Amino acid sequence: MAKLRLVYRCGDCGAAFPKWAGQCSSCQAWNTLVEDVEGPEPTLAVPLLAPAATPVPIAEVARDLGGPRPTGVGELDRVLGTGLVPGSVTLLGGEPGIGKSTLLLQLLASWPGRTLYVSAEESAPQVRLRAERIGALRPDLFLLAETVLPHIVTAIDEVRPSLVVVDSIQTVADPELGSAPGSIVQVRGCAARLVHEAKTRGIPVVLVGHVTKEGGLAGPRTLEHVVDVVLGFEGDRHHSLRLLRAVKNRYGPTDELGLFEMVEDGLVGVPDASRLFLTDRRTGVAGSAVLPTLEGQRPLLVEVQALTTATSAGGSPRRSAQGVDPSRLAMLLAVLERRARVTTAGLEVYASAVGGVRLVEPGADLALVLAICSAISNQPIAPDLVVFGEVGLAGELRQVTHAKRRLAEAARLGFRRAIVPANSPDGGTGMSLLRVATVAEALAAASLGSP
Ligand code: TYD
Ligand code: MG
Repeated sequence: MAKLRLVYRCGDCGAAFPKWAGQCSSCQAWNTLVEDVEGPEPTLAVPLLAPAATPVPIAEVARDLGGPRPTGVGELDRVLGTGLVPGSVTLLGGEPGIGKSTLLLQLLASWPGRTLYVSAEESAPQVRLRAERIGALRPDLFLLAETVLPHIVTAIDEVRPSLVVVDSIQTVADPELGSAPGSIVQVRGCAARLVHEAKTRGIPVVLVGHVTKEGGLAGPRTLEHVVDVVLGFEGDRHHSLRLLRAVKNRYGPTDELGLFEMVEDGLVGVPDASRLFLTDRRTGVAGSAVLPTLEGQRPLLVEVQALTTATSAGGSPRRSAQGVDPSRLAMLLAVLERRARVTTAGLEVYASAVGGVRLVEPGADLALVLAICSAISNQPIAPDLVVFGEVGLAGELRQVTHAKRRLAEAARLGFRRAIVPANSPDGGTGMSLLRVATVAEALAAASLGSP
């Protein structure tokens, strides 16, 4: 057996060092180095047990193990592209309590075929209770409460499922790997073994991974490279809305958004997301603008809010951005100052996208700008108005993609007018378009003038 040696490994990036230090010199994270043992790569141990592969002419290699299979959970399939690919490994990350176990039980219950749920965190009666509550007591759903990896593999042999879920990868351990459960060596080694099982059996495997406060998958980031698909489950724990995104997807898109609502008996898909996002909107209030945005292929109406207050004497004014890129916000404030003579120098600025949405597209610029100017001038934006457009450094408005889809969604929800960049194509959606070339023109079109 190869010699093991003590190393200090960064929990964020996985880099190993012979000496402990306060900061990881590889990824610069602080206080992330933990004791670990380094030995032969655990990933190597597994393939050596399998029969050696034989080379074949490349044209004779089977294309794949079959296409993706729809899971039966519509919003999950939307995010995956079509469904789960045989032989693939998917990692579902999210904070504790967000609903990962619930989502996966629902997946197992709706999967066409025999499935195995490995619970390495909760007892079998606990899982049964939940399954009962969400109507997942299916005859071909098998449950194993187990943390020891070789026992899990034996169970896969016995049950011969067409889908396996392991909840979670941080709580299973292989005694042969030596180090403590949850350590990087264990997490990586167990994941590699399960990847091997998925590939050799040609069945999809889904792993649950807990996410740390900082947002990374706890333990090694390297896990993200081992698996085929990484999904993130997010949302406010005190709010029932849950957002599912693909962070990495070898087989499909990474820009689709899945939406669920957590209710009494599990998660329900939210097909009409725009309506949900606007339910709490109060019209006639300053500092709010409605943006028809696109999440992947999905048009969504999102309320963008801003609040400004005078800065307390002395300190530099605070800028807070929720669901909005802080550097984009800073750039827009600079453009407002220089190109529209709207100054925020003495003001604290809070900006947010409502409902836990993250606005990353530049098409959100104009909605942010108008929400901020509406907040400063204390003038509400007309309730039948939506806005979109990218703001350039010269204060000019630039076209954004899918104008027609955005306008159609706004029209569907009863909006009648839209402020759009001057060159936007005509929607033909029955919306009346207010075409503007600059930020200053947009302010005038929204009747915000120069505050
Ligand atoms: P869970 O799936 O256990 O989260 P995770 O596996 O990500 O830790 O979900 C936990 C929360 O969901 C818990 O606070 C209770 C709530 N919940 C419901 O509101 N309705 C339900 O039907 C279920 C099963 C859970
Ligand atoms: Mg759980």
